[in-house]
Amino acid sequence: MSVDLLLGLQWGDEGKGKIVDVLTQKYDIIARFQGGPNAGHTLKFNGIKHVLHTIPSGIFHKKVINLIGNGVVIDPIIFKSELNELKKFKIDYRKNLYVSNKAHLILPTHRLLDIASEKSKGKSKIGSTLKGIGPTYMDKTGRNGLRVGDIFMSNWEKKYKKIKKKHLKILEFYDLKIDFNLIKIEKDFFESIKSIKELNVIESEDFLFNAMESGKKILAEGAQGSLLDIDFGTYPFVTSSTTTAAGACTGLGIPPRSIKNVFGIFKAYTTRVGSGPFPTELFDDFGKKMSKIGNEFGSTTGRSRRCGWLDLVALKYSIRINGVSQLMIMKGDVLSGFDHIKVCTGYKTKNGIISHFPFSINDDEIKPEYIKIDGWKEDLTKIKNENNFPLNFKKYISFLEKELKIPIKIISVGPDREQTILRI
Ligand code: GDP
Ligand code: IMO
Ligand code: MG
Repeated sequence: MSVDLLLGLQWGDEGKGKIVDVLTQKYDIIARFQGGPNAGHTLKFNGIKHVLHTIPSGIFHKKVINLIGNGVVIDPIIFKSELNELKKFKIDYRKNLYVSNKAHLILPTHRLLDIASEKSKGKSKIGSTLKGIGPTYMDKTGRNGLRVGDIFMSNWEKKYKKIKKKHLKILEFYDLKIDFNLIKIEKDFFESIKSIKELNVIESEDFLFNAMESGKKILAEGAQGSLLDIDFGTYPFVTSSTTTAAGACTGLGIPPRSIKNVFGIFKAYTTRVGSGPFPTELFDDFGKKMSKIGNEFGSTTGRSRRCGWLDLVALKYSIRINGVSQLMIMKGDVLSGFDHIKVCTGYKTKNGIISHFPFSINDDEIKPEYIKIDGWKEDLTKIKNENNFPLNFKKYISFLEKELKIPIKIISVGPDREQTILRI
């Protein structure tokens, strides 16, 4: 068993990028298995912040192979701009970045369709990142998509034109005015395709099979979070891929038996970007404080993230679906200075208090049931040894381990690589 998984347990932005970067030194290969540039994974070291959208978060470690698996959807334009950023840091991505020939391509018209779909929904929009994710996965499962391998084929442009024509017909149905310069974006698209052609485009399932056979260690990096999973998330306010553990098997071509540890990562509170139910959301000064201190703005869209207390009902659900074996808690430092903090331990429904995650968690159906925990005043961001944590923060960690019945193996107290306490 040589594959470990790292997954977000909430609605995304838990700090996956930071922890993958921290753990990379223990691995030979870091592999993204789903999602696309809707993701924004932030890494910070040597005083510099990096945000990755498509590229795995191990890319700054020179000896490690970073793989974009078949389950990922790639926007060549965004991908090229990420590669250009790496050039500035002298990262030899032609050597250590591999791309699956089965990964699907986000076409300019997929983005148009995403915009049209959201516009047509009005107030009930998903709050999509407008990166074309939904329409691209729709074409994948509808068996119409174009894959990275197609760009090397002689009929590539013909295939492109065919699907574009279909998309334009669908757009006529929406009958909406959309501000989008398709001609210019198509030009950038074809220019960017050239950058993909210069990379190691491979049969990544074979590569991973051989790597496993020769004892290489692999870390699969999740994107989004379990509550955004297409099946188990807060549907329809979800993304269009399998963000939970099973997605690593289909998104990389690895067998379930190859998976060893499942790392589940969560914030000491909860955030969500976009629309959809969020039982513990705060609209008061506590929420504003979390947003301000936690700098809760989307890494991809810059949108303000909604903030609220930690929701143990949702967290336990995510842990169960993923089979989490080790937990990692992020951003406890953001809660310093709160007199007390609250944790949701159940949902009040018209049939009484429930502790399982129900079919619907809409506001009018459930209300959170909280317990109150004493807060701590001390700044955590410079603490290097957990013995020096304030007593009430220690108590918060122990309380969570007892409730969740899984050990917390990493405690993150700031965005920097160095602000990480390992208990592994
Ligand atoms: P990801 O999508 O799961 O990789 O998470 P994002 O990068 O979108 O969002 C996490 C944000 O929190 C980023 O701005 C990180 O730099 C920051 N961050 C990560 N861990 C910590 C932490 O322990 N404390 C604080 N204050 N910020 C953190
Ligand atoms: P990372 O990997 C937070 C949200 C969007 C929207 C919904 C659907 O950085 O954690 P989509 O563009 O996928 O059709 O949007 O999912 N969303 C994310 N929220 N972090 C992400 O990724 C997200 N990717 C998508 O805001 O509500
Ligand atoms: Mg993010």
